[in-house]
Amino acid sequence: LATDLGVGRGSVVEAYSRLIEEGWLVARQGGSTRAAAVPLSSPPPAAAARPTRLWQHDLRPGRADPASFPRSDWAAAVRRVLTDAPNEAFDYAEWRGRSELRIALAGYLGRARGVRCTAEQVLVCTGAGHGMGLALRALAGLGRRRVAVEEPGAPQLRRIAAAAGLEVVGLPCDEHGARVELLAGMDVGVVVVTPAHQFPLGVTLSADRRTRLVAWARDHDAVVVEDDYDGELRYDRQPVGALQALDPDHVIYAGTTSKSLAPALRIGWLVVPPRLCRHLAKTAELINAAPSALDQLALTQLITTGGFDRHVRRLRGLYRSRRDLLIDSLATSAPTTVVTGASAGGHALVRLDPAGPGEAEVVAGAARRGIALSGLTDFRHPDPLDLHAESSPALVVGYATPAGQSHRTAISALAAFLGQIS
Ligand SMILES: Cc1ncc(COP(=O)(O)O)c(C=O)c1O
Repeated sequence: LATDLGVGRGSVVEAYSRLIEEGWLVARQGGSTRAAAVPLSSPPPAAAARPTRLWQHDLRPGRADPASFPRSDWAAAVRRVLTDAPNEAFDYAEWRGRSELRIALAGYLGRARGVRCTAEQVLVCTGAGHGMGLALRALAGLGRRRVAVEEPGAPQLRRIAAAAGLEVVGLPCDEHGARVELLAGMDVGVVVVTPAHQFPLGVTLSADRRTRLVAWARDHDAVVVEDDYDGELRYDRQPVGALQALDPDHVIYAGTTSKSLAPALRIGWLVVPPRLCRHLAKTAELINAAPSALDQLALTQLITTGGFDRHVRRLRGLYRSRRDLLIDSLATSAPTTVVTGASAGGHALVRLDPAGPGEAEVVAGAARRGIALSGLTDFRHPDPLDLHAESSPALVVGYATPAGQSHRTAISALAAFLGQIS
């Protein structure tokens, strides 16, 4: 057989022994080797794969530019960790996260976002979504029943809150952010907000509403969960610090690397009021899902060497120019549209002419031209109170993606399309 196949005898012997080990052949001492009588089972029918559409231009919100990931800085950080980390770093990590990262994050968040905390209050998790899930579960375990989430807001947050066992109600938002004055009549013990850059409207929670929100939390012994998903990315407005700084005892702060580095990393963090730390840590232990300790150490390395700050500065410049291109292109080609909420993050609200085609029609028309868009309606809460403050047709356009030069063509295609239909 070795001669027939033109391979070495050793390869044939190896192949035979493997087939025997796996039960496909039966070898008898002094006899021939035969094929085993293996019952033939047909493989289970493959689940019908849902066809994923390949878009020519994908301008849906919520994602970072994957091409901007600082590959060489990350590779250097990982190399450093693998060289320097003590052996215990390869063991099970503490469920609150590596202490090195918690110390680095406490410093970074204080400096960059004005968060007031010690490393003891930091809990490392696999993203803001995971962190908020932990927080809401822990609060449900402490007897909270109802949570208010922003309306419009991120649909995945509503699912996370419901999965935590809480009843979810919508808190309407307007051009000043969440309408916190409504909380008093909503009978909720928890509220989740995006104060720095409301998702998806893009507005900032006004100063008086911030004060009012923490006062409400204090008066009702309620908890505010602050989702600071893109807090690092601000462009031409005064830095807006974290709400948490106004009342570290009533605000749970959630942050993530998903917008600043890459969603693939799965690293985020919570900053927890001291009185809730033990309970949150227990919940995290129970859920038992933390990011790799080695990645945590690599992120520590990136933060402490200044590489993270440098990367965020570069990203701000890149996203600001992409944002400007979106605004300029629409002003030129589709002047009936109005762009708002674009002073931070990676998405903007593009308001459509109320006299023109409706939102669903625009999204469908764009899809026929290979442009993936999200309408504002996609982010609405099925609110029984029907308190929608925002009802005019609009698109939520992600300008952080697509990557590289394809970004320019995508924006041109969008501007040309919106210009044609208006
Ligand atoms: C508003 C908002 N909050 C939180 C998240 C969660 O991010 P992650 O779980 O990837 O950290 C996202 C993700 O897109 C988001 O858009």
